[in-house]
Amino acid sequence: MVEGSTGSPRADFVVVANRLPVDLERAPDGSQRWKRSPGGLVTALEPMLRSREGAWIGWPGLADADVEPLVEDGLQLHPVRLCAQEVQDYYEGFSNGTLWPLYHDVVAPPAFHRHWWQAYVRVNQRFAETVAEVAAEGATIWVQDYQLQLLPAALRELRPDLRIGFFLHIPFPPTELFMQLPWRREIVEGLLGADLVGFHTPGGVRNFRWLATHLAGAKAGHGRNEILVDERPVRIGAFPISIDSAALDQLSRSDSVRKRAAEIRADLGDPEKIVLGVDRLDYTKGIDVRLLAFQELLEEGRISSEDTVMVQLATPSRERVEHYQRMRNDIEQSVGRINGEFSRVGFPAVHYLHQSLPREELAAFFLAADVMLVTPLRDGMNLVAKEYVACRHDLGGALVLSEFAGAAIELAQAFQVNPHDTDGVKNTLYEALTVTPEEGRKRMKALRRQVMTHDVDRWARSFLDALGMPEPVDARHG
Ligand code: ADP
Ligand code: F6P
Repeated sequence: MVEGSTGSPRADFVVVANRLPVDLERAPDGSQRWKRSPGGLVTALEPMLRSREGAWIGWPGLADADVEPLVEDGLQLHPVRLCAQEVQDYYEGFSNGTLWPLYHDVVAPPAFHRHWWQAYVRVNQRFAETVAEVAAEGATIWVQDYQLQLLPAALRELRPDLRIGFFLHIPFPPTELFMQLPWRREIVEGLLGADLVGFHTPGGVRNFRWLATHLAGAKAGHGRNEILVDERPVRIGAFPISIDSAALDQLSRSDSVRKRAAEIRADLGDPEKIVLGVDRLDYTKGIDVRLLAFQELLEEGRISSEDTVMVQLATPSRERVEHYQRMRNDIEQSVGRINGEFSRVGFPAVHYLHQSLPREELAAFFLAADVMLVTPLRDGMNLVAKEYVACRHDLGGALVLSEFAGAAIELAQAFQVNPHDTDGVKNTLYEALTVTPEEGRKRMKALRRQVMTHDVDRWARSFLDALGMPEPVDARHG
C-alpha cells in the first residue's frame, strides 16, 4: 500500500469538510478530549464513511492545535491546522459572517471584508494541499459545504487524476442575492473544478446553472444535468440528504428510550401536550418565531401552561460571531418573558436547555413530543424534521415544518407553515395540537414512508454513482 508523508496509507476515498467528525476540546486544566462535532453534516456523513473505510480531512475545531493524523473507530482522520487569526477570518468571518447569511436569504446582513476573503482563499488552498497529499492515484474526493467552495478547482490544479465531487449542505441562493458577492466569479469557478456539483433542491441546481453560464462562460452539455467548462463536462444535480433512518427507528424502539420518554413526560409534570424544538442555536432556525407563536396562544387562552409545555433544546453554535450572540440574548429574553408570565413554581411553561444532548436522550425527547416545531426562515434540508419522523414508529406526534426548509419538498404531509406569518404559525401549531388521532396517524404514516425509504445511504449512493465512483469491494462481492 502506498504511504503518504504522514505515514498513513493513501486513501481511495476521501471526504473533506471544514470540521472533522470529532472536535478537540481543551479543558481549563489544559487537558484535551475529543467529542462529536455539531451539525447535520456530521450526522449524515459519519455512518456513510465508516461503512466505506475512507479518510476524513478537516479542522479539529481548536485554533493552533497541532494534531497528528489518527485512526478513530476505523476512520482515518487527517487534521488541518488553522491559526487563531484564520479561525477568525476564514471560519467566523467569511464562512459564517459572509456566506452563511448570504446563502440563507440574507436573513441577517452579510459582511464583505477583503481580509476575510483572503483568509478563505489561503485556507482552501491548504485543504487542497492536504488532500493532494492524502489521496491515492485516481481516488474519489468528496468535498463538503460552503466553507470549501474553492477547493475543487485548487485540487484539480494539483491533482488532475482525481475524481472530485462537491456537495453543498446549505441552500444555494437566488442569483440576484449571489450577485452581491464581490468574489462571485471566483466562487463559481472554484465549484466548477469538480466533476459533479450537488445541491439539496432543484432550485439550487437552477441558480447555479445560470451563474455558471453567466459568470464562468459554461455551455450546455448533454442533457439538463451537464454543463461544459472549457469542453470538460461538469454534472450538476439535486441530491436531498437524509439520515440513518433505520438506526434511529431502532433506537427509538428500544426499551431504554421508551422508558426515558415516559420519564421526560413525568418530569415535565405530565402535561397533556409537549411541544418540542431541537436546533443548533442559529438565527436561521426561527426559534424566535415559534416562541412568539407559543406565547400568543398562551396569551389568547387557547392553550394553558398547565396542559401544554414547550421544550427547546439548543446546541451552542458559533458563539463568537456577533449575530449569534445577539440572537441568543433575544431568545433567552423571550424564554424569560414567557416563563415570567405563564409559569407556576416548579412548572415552567418553556424548558430551555442550551446544551448538546446524547443521541439516545434526543430520541427520547422526539418520542415524547406531541408536536415538533421546525420553523427555519431558510434551511438547506433540516435533518431534525426527518429524525423526528424516524423516531415515531408509534405513528404518534405531529410535525410542523417551515416551507423554507429543503425537507418541505419531501415531507409534504407535515403541517407546513410560512415562518414569516406569525398568525399562520400560531394557528397551525394549534391545529397540530388538536389534530384527531386518526388524521395524525395518517400523516405520520405517509411521512415515515418517505423517510424510512430515503435514507442517508441512498443519498450517498446516488451522489457517488452520479460521480462514477467505483463500488466498494465488499459491496461488489456482497
Ligand atoms: P444544521 O446542519 O444546520 O445544524 P440539521 O437539522 O440539518 O441542521 O442538523 C442538526 C443536527 O444536530 C441533527 O442531527 C440534530 O439531531 C443535532 N442536534 C440539534 N440540536 C441538538 C442538541 N441540542 N443536542 C444534540 N444534537 C442536536
Ligand atoms: O451544513 C451546516 C453546517 O454548517 C455544517 O457545515 C457544519 O458542520 C454544521 O452546520 C455546524 O456548524 P459549525 O461547523 O460552524 O459548528
